[in-house]
Amino acid sequence: MYVCICNGIKDSQVRSAAQDGAGTVGQVFKAHGCKPDCAQCVGCIRDVLEDELTPSGIMLAAE
Ligand code: FES
Repeated sequence: MYVCICNGIKDSQVRSAAQDGAGTVGQVFKAHGCKPDCAQCVGCIRDVLEDELTPSGIMLAAE
């Protein structure tokens, strides 16, 4: 499922970025070599990050 239409980022790519160390929305964009455009996806990306990182006990970094 696409979470960022502007940059074509899927939830699976957010999870992959999180597994590679991304802990913030900004780090997810950086991992994909892009920047937010409309920023409508920020909350959704944050939710996916929380879902991916919280169960393993990793704390999300403040943005
Ligand atoms: S949907 Fe992600 S920046 Fe627009």
